[in-house]
Amino acid sequence: MSSKNTNNSYGWVAKTFHWGLFLIIVYQFWLGNNFKELELAGRHFSIGVLILLLMLLRFSWRASNPVPELPDGTGKLQAMGAHGLHILFYILLIGLPLAGIAIVQSKGGTVSFFGLFSIPGILEKAESSADLAVTMHIIFARATLISVILHLLMALYHHFGKKDDVLRRMLPW
Ligand code: HEM
Ligand code: HEM
Repeated sequence: MSSKNTNNSYGWVAKTFHWGLFLIIVYQFWLGNNFKELELAGRHFSIGVLILLLMLLRFSWRASNPVPELPDGTGKLQAMGAHGLHILFYILLIGLPLAGIAIVQSKGGTVSFFGLFSIPGILEKAESSADLAVTMHIIFARATLISVILHLLMALYHHFGKKDDVLRRMLPW
């Protein structure tokens, strides 16, 4: 399998990003809802920064590769919808960790990446910014969840309804 995408298939780099990030994001959602009781805040923050870095790398990879086209006969509106949802994932999964960093910094804390380095402090301590950042973080997380459900339903519809190869071309095997 080639590393690069072609006009009708994903290469192994895009697939590794897709499924690797899928697993990390599922775990990160679980942490988001449980880290306070389990005292795993540092892990939620570090993994969030990891997702941010991987999404930036993944976006540069996507930008330097062909994006596989949808099968012949796909309507313009549906193609735009699919493309738009993919771009929305990049916006949400970059905005979500940034809002997370904003929460911690505006509460006067420091975000460390697995103890290796710290994110430079950009925001000053301010309760009002912290409240706004928490609201943004929660809205972005909900929007991501809804988008993933929609994305999953569309993948299943392609495979079982339209019986095309859109799901198969993203599978690792
Ligand atoms: C893509 C990455 C991330 C995802 C998917 C994510 C997801 C979540 C979720 C689902 C919650 C629970 C929200 C709720 O109460 O409904 C949460 C809370 C939180 N997250 Fe994240 N998070 C991410 C990145 C980060 C980062 C990078 C930080 C900080 C460096 C962070 C800091 C926090 C904090 C402080 C809370 C608690 C907010 C509160 O006071 O209720 N998150 N996160
Ligand atoms: C955290 C969850 C997920 C995120 C953030 C996500 C994100 C993305 C993104 C951004 C793309 C566009 C290709 C790229 O830029 O890499 C994509 C493509 C794709 N995803 Fe996901 N995905 C998730 C989960 C899933 C799941 C659970 C399935 C199916 C069971 C799935 C099936 C697909 C398929 C089939 C494509 C190819 C679509 C096409 O060829 O146009 N994804 N996904």
